[in-house]
Amino acid sequence: MTTTSEADTGTGYGRPKPSYNTRLREVGPGTPMGEALRRYWHPIASSETLIAGALPQKTRVLGEDLVVFRDGQGRPGVVFERCAHRGASLYYGRVEDDGIRCCYHGWKFDVQGHCIEQACEPGLGRRRDAARQPWYPAAERYGLVFVYMGPPELKPELPRYDALENPAEDERYFASWPIPGATITGAPADFSWLNIYENSADPTHVTWLHSTHSGYQMTGTGTFGYPENFFDPALIAERLTYERTDHGVKYTQRFEVEGEDGEVTEYGFAVDQHLPNVFGLPDFVKIAPDGRQDQLLWIVPSDDTSHRTFFSIRTNDPERFGRFLGGITQNGKQNHELTDEEHQKFPGDTEAQGSQGAITLDSEETLATGDRGVVMLRRMLLAMADDVEAGRDPINIIRDASEVHHVETGLFTLGKRPAGENADAPAAAGV
Ligand code: FES
Ligand SMILES: [Fe+2]
Repeated sequence: MTTTSEADTGTGYGRPKPSYNTRLREVGPGTPMGEALRRYWHPIASSETLIAGALPQKTRVLGEDLVVFRDGQGRPGVVFERCAHRGASLYYGRVEDDGIRCCYHGWKFDVQGHCIEQACEPGLGRRRDAARQPWYPAAERYGLVFVYMGPPELKPELPRYDALENPAEDERYFASWPIPGATITGAPADFSWLNIYENSADPTHVTWLHSTHSGYQMTGTGTFGYPENFFDPALIAERLTYERTDHGVKYTQRFEVEGEDGEVTEYGFAVDQHLPNVFGLPDFVKIAPDGRQDQLLWIVPSDDTSHRTFFSIRTNDPERFGRFLGGITQNGKQNHELTDEEHQKFPGDTEAQGSQGAITLDSEETLATGDRGVVMLRRMLLAMADDVEAGRDPINIIRDASEVHHVETGLFTLGKRPAGENADAPAAAGV
């Protein structure tokens, strides 16, 4: 028999059953977070690829199975997938000029679910008014179709964001994933939306995962992109600032770039979240400071254990769009090109966030200073659920159609110092 002088501590034996915070992480109808999320508009499809009269698309949002289509008159429609007659899927339906027609018995519904024809009934359905296909309001902006799934009387304005407003004449919105099967209803992933939304408040993972651990993954690092000191784990803690803003969580990461003449420029790389599920990323591949932010992402829960990502980029530069989509490589490849061994040796966001589990287990976490942004975000999301339960409008609800959200994401020049001067010079003060 083996004996030890002291009891072994910290073994896995006898631990309580792992659990997650249901209030934070469940999104179905009637759950606290599900009800809070239903107070906002969410992207459901890309406008450009939702073609008038084309086959309907099947999707799932906040635990509800939906069909999205564009009728022949160009109106976007979002209805329950299950037909109000006897339940056949409208995914097998046909989109016509004024609505969608079920394959089973030919009932036709318009974009607001009114039954406008019952093909096999006398007089095409003398009592068709009694049938109503459950539907949700849809609206379009920034190259995306949005849906509102909350209480009709509390429907807010579709939000505007300054980053995407007022495109120049030669600019357009890029908002479609050029991936077969994922172009219309976003990019799907089989883990909770919070694994990725929390990641957007977690800058230390960029330093470790995207560089130190797996090799530099942001294309352009050290050339036209971010300098190697941006990714230095020994510097990251002192270079980060987290802020709770009036619309979400924002972090700023300071870093330095030395010019050929030895002059050092200090920049701030800022990522700004707009609750409940929006954030902007600066150009993370190319140093492009002090311009107007041009891009936003939305992380939309499909259900508790899966989500879809949407984006919109306002630009006249297809390279910017390409840099965004292909900007992170793993061993010089895109994620889907990796071998099993490469997934292990060169992990990126997919490996890290996917392996947290379909829902991350709050009871098994050990949080530290680098998780400040994540903790702030969780608190703000829970406050959002509290507000909805208390009958108040939650954060970021827009009632005035002219209001424009300010997005503070970007890469900003903070200061410069001449060659040879040390980092305590005034350039860095006040940050
Ligand atoms: S089930 Fe849809 S028309 Fe009968
Ligand atoms: Fe990442």
